[in-house]
Amino acid sequence: MAAVTDSAPLVLGIETSCDETGIALVRGHELLADVTATSMSEHARFGGIVPEVASRAHLEAFGPTLDEALRRAGVTAGDVDAVAVTSGPGLVGSLTVGVGAAKSLALALGVPLYGVNHILGHAAVDALVDGPFPAQWLALVVSGGHSSLLHVRDIATDVVELGQTLDDAAGEAFDKVGRLLGLPYPGGPHVDKLAQTGDAEAFAFPRGLSRSKDMAAHAYDFSFSGLKTAVARVIEGFEDAGQEVPAADVAASFSEAVADVLVAKTQHAATTLGVDTVVIGGGFSANSRLRALAQERLTDAGITVRIPPIRYCTDNGAMIAALGSAVVAADLPASELDITIDSGMPLTQVLAQA
Ligand code: KG4
Ligand code: ZN
Repeated sequence: MAAVTDSAPLVLGIETSCDETGIALVRGHELLADVTATSMSEHARFGGIVPEVASRAHLEAFGPTLDEALRRAGVTAGDVDAVAVTSGPGLVGSLTVGVGAAKSLALALGVPLYGVNHILGHAAVDALVDGPFPAQWLALVVSGGHSSLLHVRDIATDVVELGQTLDDAAGEAFDKVGRLLGLPYPGGPHVDKLAQTGDAEAFAFPRGLSRSKDMAAHAYDFSFSGLKTAVARVIEGFEDAGQEVPAADVAASFSEAVADVLVAKTQHAATTLGVDTVVIGGGFSANSRLRALAQERLTDAGITVRIPPIRYCTDNGAMIAALGSAVVAADLPASELDITIDSGMPLTQVLAQA
């Protein structure tokens, strides 16, 4: 943990963009408490998140999660100096529950409200684990909903989006391949586990947007839909021939293709921009092949790789409290109490607009 000043403001972070109700308390770079409730098991039988179910679950979980976070941090609501909440991107109903609750809290406590960007939170949270950021760094944010490469000088005030996925996010592609292989939802972790027993060179799957003509226009963008189609064709080929699908080999070759592209493009950006630190965040950074390949290739290239523990990579309140803390430290103006949610909030926006 980084050095902490007792005088830094106490920031309450609220995350409800998807199916996790996350509430955390942060002072400076110190995480005092981080509590998460999830409705994931309620969605599993539908094979995907049901927005109304997620919204209702946030409503039910909010009070107990807040009480538990305050208790674990050893503070009361009256000690909170600022409230930060995810304004977007995310599911409309889920975001609305969190933003509504955050407004009520800020109003009742008489403290400023900051509606912040979820994706930037996935990068900001690493400061709670690995300490203050260097003068410039790259953030690779990969999850079920986003795959973006960012050049960061200050997470609150100076973030440039280098590229993002043009179609599926990395986790989304894993979930779709999981479905093709008949694995339970969400497929990502299951495909990862299966891949560890397979041959990564069994199938030569495409590396999206990596040919020189694509690199000219999309050096830092990703595309996983062609890869997913290639996997589907291979599976169909075995099924049509009445043969058993070599699921572990398919999973391993697919995982290799995704990790290879993510790491290669990140390394290319680091070398081109002269940046020597890469932070990887988002739920997909739990992927074992991505972790191993990033450590191996980037470390070899003299680049420091920072990946927080998995509980800070999946959606959580600490990421929003960390970004709130950075926004407060940068002295940005608080959000108005009439801010709305923005399900497609762009990365260029750290704070919600009214
Ligand atoms: O950040 P996150 O919790 O939620 C979103 O904001 O999307 O990311 C969850 C995504 C899901 O698509 C899940 O299948 C994927 O990350 N995922 C994985 C692994 N663990 C989670 N994908 C591949 N390998 C894993 N080990
Ligand atoms: Zn997320």
